[in-house]
Formats: sequence, C-alpha cells, structure tokens
Amino acid sequence: MSKILITGGTGYIGSHTAIELFAENRFDVISIDNLVNSSADTVGRIESITGKTMTNYQVDLVDLEAVRSVFKENTDIIGVIHFAALKSVGDSVSDPLGYYHNNFESLINILKCCEEFDVKNFIFSSSCSIYGNIDKLPVTEDTAVTETESPYAQTKWMGERIIKDFCKVSKVKCIALRYFNPVGAHESGKNGEDVINKPSNLVPVITRTAVGWIPQMTVFGGDYPTRDGTAIRDYIHVTDIADAHLKAMDYLLEGKNEHNYEVYNLGSGNGVSVLEAINAFEKVSGVKLNYVIGDRRAGDVISIYSDSSLAKDKLGWEAQKDIDEMMSSAWKWQQYVLENTAV
Ligand SMILES: NC(=O)c1ccc[n+]([C@@H]2O[C@H](COP(=O)([O-])OP(=O)(O)OC[C@H]3O[C@@H](n4cnc5c(N)ncnc54)[C@H](O)[C@@H]3O)[C@@H](O)[C@H]2O)c1
Repeated sequence: MSKILITGGTGYIGSHTAIELFAENRFDVISIDNLVNSSADTVGRIESITGKTMTNYQVDLVDLEAVRSVFKENTDIIGVIHFAALKSVGDSVSDPLGYYHNNFESLINILKCCEEFDVKNFIFSSSCSIYGNIDKLPVTEDTAVTETESPYAQTKWMGERIIKDFCKVSKVKCIALRYFNPVGAHESGKNGEDVINKPSNLVPVITRTAVGWIPQMTVFGGDYPTRDGTAIRDYIHVTDIADAHLKAMDYLLEGKNEHNYEVYNLGSGNGVSVLEAINAFEKVSGVKLNYVIGDRRAGDVISIYSDSSLAKDKLGWEAQKDIDEMMSSAWKWQQYVLENTAV
C-alpha cells in the first residue's frame, strides 16, 4: 500500500479525502493534526465508514522537529496533501499575526520535510479567496489576483508563491488546488463539518439554525450589487473536492504534470446567492429558517464563481453534485450530530 500523509486529516475536507483515499484500496493514510479545529472522534467516524484506521499524529506543524519525527517514523510516504491551516476569514482579520504564523510556518515546515525525506508529490489547499473582488466572472487560473480581502486569503496567496519558488529549486512536484466553497457531507451522513469553534461558513450556520442551536442567523449583507442583494459563491460538494485530490495525486504519481508547479480551480461553475442557498436548504429539509439580513462582514468578497475547465482537461475532474445534494447531505449530517450529542 502506498502511504499518503494528510495534514489536517481530522478536519472537514481532510477527513472526507481520507475516506475517498481509503475507498480506493490502494492507499494507507496517516494524518498530522493538532486538533486546534477538529476532534479526535473523526478517526472513529472515518473507521465506521471505511473500516480502516487513519493514525493521527497530534502534532503542531509549527514544530519542525515534531514534524520531522513523523517523517522519520514513516519512511514510506509517497505523497503529502497539506490541508492544515487556520481558515476563518473573520478571525484572520482580528488576529493577522496568529494566522500568518500558523499557516506560513506549517507550510514551510512540511515543505522542508518533503525535501529532506524525498517525498516528491505535494498538494496544497488554496482558496478562491485569493482572487479578491474581481469584475470579470467566471474566474480562471489566469485571472489576475487583486488585493486580497483578508490575512487568511493572503496566507493562501503567499502560500502559493512560497510553493512556486520552492518548486524552482526542488524535485518536489506541487499542485495548488483553489477550492471555491466546499459544503455538504458524506452521503452516509456520518461525517461532515464538525464545528469545534464558532461556525463561520454558511452551511453549518444554516443547519445549526435549523435545529435551533443558533436561534437566528444573520445573512451578512443584503445590499450587494447582485441579483438579490446577497453575496454570490460557487458551492461545491466536499466529496467532489475530495475526489479532486485523488485525481491530482494520481496525476502527479503517474508523472503527467507538465510543470513542477501547477494550479487548478475547483468549483462547480455556478454562482449561488446566500438567499438561493437558504431556499435550497428549506426545500430539501422542509424546515423554515429564522434569519435576518445584517451588515456586510469584513473580508467578504461580493461575488465569485469559477471556470474549472482546466481541472477537467488535465486532471479529468469535474463537479458531480448539485446544490440540493450539498444541502441534503449537510442536513443528514446535522441530524446525525444531533442524535449523537449528549444532552
Ligand atoms: N472549508 C472551506 O470553505 C475552504 C475553502 C477554501 C480553502 N480551504 C482550505 O482547505 C483546508 C482545509 O479546510 P477545512 O475546511 O477542512 O478546515 P478544518 O479547520 O476543518 O481543517 C483544518 C485542520 O487543520 C488543523 N490544523 C490547523 N493548524 C494546524 C497546525 N499548526 N498543526 C496541525 N494541525 C493544524 C486543524 O485542527 C483542522 O483539523 C484549509 O487549508 C483551508 O484553508 C477551505
């Protein structure tokens, strides 16, 4: 079995990717996650779905020696998927140094270890937030990056630059995947976004409002220049995102890359407004949401959706699941959490 190291393997996208990797029956998967934004319970959930155990090293990636010891113990790692990062746009605005420290140090340390331990295949979680506010939609990988709107987005943009420069002098082959807005949960309903800290993304806020954990949700901004005044995003099912990592890893392992550093957008290509997302949820769940329209939130862009045709052409990947499937799986997961939460 080929061994893949996932950083952030107990987090939302990392855990779904571990499930897809295990399902292939070709990979062993280990993880480094310090549980700053996830719980060790994820390992049990992955096991209940796949029947396989992902060893998680509870290590802070900022600690180079601790990361090195994981590589020393696992000399058979063939690829790294680097998900681990702090990811709240709002928190990054209030704690820029914390975000720069965590996200840059983690990235630099994991790249150093790939170099030192001769792991040649590396995938990085980037984000559409790097594009900032752009006039011309959809965005392609060639869309000029404008001023990023938050320190979080800056860690992704600079992260890409760090990797690009590193690839010029290293044998490590790297792909940066720019996710648009991953939502939804595993089809079993047994794994989803396990919100440890205050949820900042739309869908966990929606499902928590639906079960009454949030008494009333706020839609940030109703006066944007969009079709209904709310911000527009390109939502993409987390399982589709996970599948893209498999395809990207195979692409690198099979030596199909043309350059040592390549970048791909991962989106559905459809712009959905916050109110349209709320409507889709209400339709599939039959639950009316209690929400108000509030002020705009610092760091948010107005409207963004992708052109992901490059990923289709090169990686053979494209989004399969629509907004209704995203909402129904997220709702299934929320009910699972409700049933399994001690009162
Ligand atoms: N979810 C999204 O909407 C989205 C969109 C675009 C990009 N991304 C990026 O995708 C990646 C995964 O996102 P996610 O939604 O799964 O987030 P997540 O918070 O669920 O998972 C990230 C994991 O990284 C871990 N982590 C953070 N800092 C660490 C450190 N110093 N050492 C060890 N572990 C650490 C956290 O505990 C967490 O489990 C992140 O890099 C994020 O920026 C996410």
